[in-house]
This record gives sequence, structure tokens and C-alpha cells, in this order.
Amino acid sequence: MDGNLYPYPSQADAKQPLQATLVWDLPLRLFHWAMVCVVAVAGVTGFLAPEWWLDLHVIAGYALGTLLTFRLAWGFLGSHYSKFWTFPLTRGGAYRHLRAILDRKPQDHAGHNPAGAWMIILLLIVLVSLVATGLVVLGGQENLGPLASAATFQTGEIAAKIHEIAAWGLVGAVVLHLLGVFVETRIFRHPVLAAMITGKKVTAELPPGAPPGMSAVRGGILFLAVTALLLAGGRTLAGKFPSGWRAVQAPAAYTTECGDCHHAHHPSLRTRQAWRALMNGLPDHYGEDASLDAETVRTIRAYLDANPAGTFDTEAAQRVGRIETSSFRMTDVPYWKARHQSIAPSVFRLTAVGSKVNCNGCHKDAASGRFDDVKIHLPTGDKK
Ligand code: HEC
Ligand code: HEC
Repeated sequence: MDGNLYPYPSQADAKQPLQATLVWDLPLRLFHWAMVCVVAVAGVTGFLAPEWWLDLHVIAGYALGTLLTFRLAWGFLGSHYSKFWTFPLTRGGAYRHLRAILDRKPQDHAGHNPAGAWMIILLLIVLVSLVATGLVVLGGQENLGPLASAATFQTGEIAAKIHEIAAWGLVGAVVLHLLGVFVETRIFRHPVLAAMITGKKVTAELPPGAPPGMSAVRGGILFLAVTALLLAGGRTLAGKFPSGWRAVQAPAAYTTECGDCHHAHHPSLRTRQAWRALMNGLPDHYGEDASLDAETVRTIRAYLDANPAGTFDTEAAQRVGRIETSSFRMTDVPYWKARHQSIAPSVFRLTAVGSKVNCNGCHKDAASGRFDDVKIHLPTGDKK
């Protein structure tokens, strides 16, 4: 076996008597525990919560992105053991370490042990892909966030699948990571958990370079800089118009006449054919006489003809608007039914709603046609 397992510069040669040495700098430890909290929130809201909790999931995702960006930069600017080039990522190293576990021969590693180092790389890759695909889903499907103007509905749909696979990958990686921590603390009696709190490990290795204690201020400044940069960039991008959506100005006749008995539906919610059929059947409109004079009909027809579902790429247009129904109702579209079946009928009858056709009773942005998850507010009252 070769004598030098971890051939990074001179580090393996620097020795001192066994003693508690600061190896994990404060910024790294804060990063680690902040990460634990944020991943827990993202996991719970992502796996378990109803869709209108999306905003909390998204906030956790943004926090995750910020933390990860900081960690990637800290891998170059942090103290010795935080730097990526000090990770013992040799091909044989992880194997030898796992053999040592089976042989129950503890090894002294001041920084990450070889298996742990690979683990961190894996975790970072999975987490970065979760944030990246999350942003594409948010931009593509919900038309929100910094990629709203860049990602189409279709790319959002593909990204959603990858996002889900990566989420399960993260569950697996976290389990492996906890297993590793268990083996280190229980079998090797290396208090790695305590080390991630105090930063100290009993080791004979002497960390080269400036002591990790010096890096707290540098870490704080770097974190603020990363946050400011991402905020500025994100806000600039999020300010652009979302792809597949545009603001349309409804003629006054549409808002008043078609908003008389129910709220005036956004034109992206029906196909051109459906709108034409509805406009041709106004005298017998779902049991009501909704007849209008010829001039008003012309104005409304022109508006609906110019802006039907096919001209929008939003979730509502794709999943509801573009789907034909023989009744011409959007509320007969299977997707619509599936998404609203868990709502008690009494909620639809509340005065704040009145009927299922009053989308704006629960979707605060119904008039704009956006139907963002974060704008869903079930009216309170006699809910069930
Ligand atoms: C006189 C009242 C009245 C007027 C005016 C009216 N509607 Fe309606 N509309 C109704 C009723 C009632 C329903 C069925 C409501 C229900 O099922 O709860 C309905 C349903 C609809 C639906 C189907 C909603 C679903 O279930 O998916 C559409 C689309 C619609 N109206 C469009 C229009 C348009 C466009 C205009 C203007 C040209 C208009 N309505 C004017 C009374 C009216
Ligand atoms: C009584 C309240 C209520 C009314 C009225 C209502 N919705 Fe919803 N809608 C919801 C809720 C709650 C959800 C989220 C369901 C879930 O968790 O999947 C939802 C989900 C949706 C979604 C999926 C949104 C997404 O991003 O996943 C669409 C699209 C939608 N509604 C369209 C409509 C349209 C169009 C109408 C009017 C014809 C309407 N809704 C009327 C409460 C309502």
C-alpha cells in the first residue's frame, strides 16, 4: 500500500501531539445546521403539504440556493478543511476507508474522511440539482420566480419529473449520510457530531495555513455578498414578463356583461371554438337568458377570438383552457374536477364564492389568468 493516502500538499506531514484542534470553521458549521433546517422545511412542504403551501416551499428553496452558493464559494475561500481541494477524493481512498470500517480499524482524519468527502460531494450535487430543477418548475409551470420568462410549460413539466427523482435521491443521500455519522460515532468512537457543533476534533494533524478561527468575519462578508448578488439578480429576472402569459385588456362590455351573473372569465380558459359556441348560444345560457345586442356581441366575440387558450402557455390554459368539453364548461374538464374535488360543496356556496364558476372567489389572480398556486385563498367561514 502506498504510504501517502492523501496526497495534497504537505498536509499529511504536519503532525502534532494528539489534541483537540479546531478543524471546522464557524461559517461552515453555521452553513451545515442552517442547511439541516432548510432542507427539513423544503422536504416537509414538498412531500406532504397541499399545493397552496408552495410559497413556503419556494422560500425554503431560495434559502437553499443561497446557502449552496455560499458553500460552493466557501469551498475556495474558506479555511483549510472547508476547501474542496483538501477533500480526500482519491479513487482508492473511499474503498480503503470502507474496508477499515469492516475491519473496525479507526483512522485519524482531521477533515472529512474519504467516504464522508464523497458523501458531501453527492449531497451537494443532489441539492444543487434540486434547486435548479425547482426553479425551472416554478418558472415553467407556475410562471413564477427568476425563470418565469425563460422556461416554457413543457420544460417545466420535464423539470418537475427530475425534481421529484432528485428529491427521492436526497432522501437516500441523507439516510446514507446519517448512517455514516452513526458508524463514525458508534463504531469508531469519533465524535463527528460534536465536532460539527464545536468545530474541534482530537487529531494529530496540524491544519496548515491560517487557523480556522480567523475565517468567521470573512465568511459573514461572503454570505452577505452572495445573498445580495442573488437577490439583485433574481429580482431583475423575476421582473420580466413570464413566458406564455401576457396582460390582455378586456373591453368594458366584456367585464360588465359577462361579469354580471358570475365573474368575467379569463379568455385563456376556453378554446376559440368553445367561446364561439358560447357566444352563439347566449339566449339559452345554462338556463339563463344572457342575450346581448349585436354590437356588444361583436366586441366581445372579437376579444375572445383574439385571446383564446391556444395563445397562452400558462398552467391554467394548458390543463384547463385547451381541453374541449361538450358542455363548453371549464368546470367539466377532468383536471379541473380532480383539483377541486376535495373542496367541500359548502365552500362553493359561501357568499364570497357563490358558485364554482366564480374562480375569483378563491383564486385572487383569476382576472389576470395567472392562477398562481400562491394566490389561492379558500374563503373562511362554514368550511365543512
Ligand atoms: C344572466 C346571467 C348570466 C350572464 C349575463 C352570463 N352568464 Fe355565463 N353563466 C351563467 C350561469 C347561471 C352559468 C352556470 C353557473 C353554474 O353552473 O353555477 C354560467 C356559466 C358560464 C360558463 C361555464 C362555466 C363553467 O362551469 O365552466 C361560461 C364559460 C360562461 N358562463 C361565460 C359567459 C360569458 C362569456 C358571458 C358573456 C357573454 C356570460 N357567461 C354571461 C349566467 C350568466
Ligand atoms: C372554492 C374555491 C375555488 C374555486 C371557486 C375555484 N378554485 Fe381552482 N383551486 C382551488 C384550490 C383550493 C386549488 C388547489 C387544489 C390542490 O391542492 O390541488 C385550486 C386549483 C386550481 C388550479 C390548479 C392550479 C395549480 O397551479 O396547480 C387551476 C388551474 C384552477 N384551480 C382553476 C380554477 C378555475 C378556472 C376556476 C373557475 C372556473 C376555479 N379554479 C375555481 C380553489 C378554487
